[in-house]
Amino acid sequence: MSEQNQIIIFDTTLRDGEQSPGCSMNLEEKLKMARLLDEMGVDVIEAGFPIASRGDFEAVEAISREIKNATVAGLCRAVKRDIEASADAIKSAPHKRIHTFISTSPLHMKYKLQMTPEAVLEAISESVSFARNFTDDVEWSAEDGSRTEDDFLCRCVEAAIAAGATTINIPDTVGYAMPEDYAAKFIMLRKRVPNIDKAILSVHCHNDLGLAVANSLAGVDAGARQIECTINGIGERAGNAALEEVIMAMRTRPDAMPYTNNIKTEMITKVSRTLSSITGFVVQPNKAIVGANAFAHESGIHQDGVLKHAQTYEIMTPESVGLTRSNLVMGKHSGRHAFKSKLEEMGYTLGENAFEDAFNRFKDLADKKK
Ligand code: KIV
Ligand code: ZN
Repeated sequence: MSEQNQIIIFDTTLRDGEQSPGCSMNLEEKLKMARLLDEMGVDVIEAGFPIASRGDFEAVEAISREIKNATVAGLCRAVKRDIEASADAIKSAPHKRIHTFISTSPLHMKYKLQMTPEAVLEAISESVSFARNFTDDVEWSAEDGSRTEDDFLCRCVEAAIAAGATTINIPDTVGYAMPEDYAAKFIMLRKRVPNIDKAILSVHCHNDLGLAVANSLAGVDAGARQIECTINGIGERAGNAALEEVIMAMRTRPDAMPYTNNIKTEMITKVSRTLSSITGFVVQPNKAIVGANAFAHESGIHQDGVLKHAQTYEIMTPESVGLTRSNLVMGKHSGRHAFKSKLEEMGYTLGENAFEDAFNRFKDLADKKK
C-alpha cells in the first residue's frame, strides 16, 4: 500500500471529547488515556486547550513529558498568548504540534468574532507564522469550514499554507454537512488552492445529524489524509466521529476504503471501556463496534447461523476489536441450537426429553421477562 494511502489518526478525546458535558477528566485520568492511545497506535493526541485552564495546561504538559511515540498537540485560538501557552505546554514532547484555529464562515465571522474577512485573513497569516517559531508541525483549522464560502475558504487555506501550516483541517463544526457536500469541499480545495500539495488535508466532523463517520470517510475519499476523531464518539453536543467506527469501517471494507493506518484494533474494546469507566459516560448498548450488543445475537435464526458459520451475521470478528467471542443472548427469539450451545457452555448436557422440557420452560419464561 503506498504511503499516499496511509491515514493519520488524530485523536481529540482529551480535548474536543472532554468538552462534552459530564466528560471532564483529571490529570491522572488524562495520562492514563494518553498512554493507552499511544499504545494503540494513534498518530496525534490532542491533549487539551492549554490556555483554557490551569488543569488543561498541566495535563498537556504532563502528557508531553511522557508520550514518546505519538505527536502531542495543543489547541489555541489565533491569539499570541494562546499560542505561547500551547507552545509552553508541549515543549517537552519529542513530537509536538501547535493547532491553531479561527472561524471562517460568514455567520461566525459576523456574529461570533465580529471581524471582517480581511481581518480574519490577516489573523491566519500572523497566527500560523507565529506558531512556526515554536515547531515545524503547525495545524490550522477553519472553524465552521463546511459552512464557509468556497472563494474565501480558498484564500484562507492558501494563506495558512503560505505562512507555514503543514496540516489544514476543515471541520464540520456543527455537524451540518452531507457526505457529498463535505467531499466536494476537499475536491474543490485540491483543485483551486495553488499550494495545496504542501499540506496534509484533515477531516473533523461532528455528529449532530449522525453523519460524522460518513462525512469523515467521504472526506478521505476526496483526498483528506488525516481523520480527527474521539473514542466512543464523545465530544461537543452529539459528539465527534468515533475512532472505532472509522477504523473498523476501513478495516472491514478495504475494497471500498483502501487505506492503511497504525491502529491496533485489538485494543479498541479496552480503550473504550477505560474511557467509559473514567468518565462514567455509558456507551449505548447498540453503539457500533463497542456497544454491549455490537456482537450479541438474540434471534434464533441469527444464533443458528452464527453457530454454523460466524460470518453469516458477523462482518468482523469480535477478536478483531479485542473481545474474546460473540455473545449469544438468550431471549424469546432464541432457538434450540443456541439454547443447547448455551447449556453446554454452562456445563449441562441433557437427554432429548429433558432438553425439550427445559427448552419449553425457557421459552415460557422468556415470553414473560427480558
Ligand atoms: O469543531 C471544531 O471546529 C473544532 C475546532 C476547534 C478544530 O473542534
Ligand atoms: Zn470539534
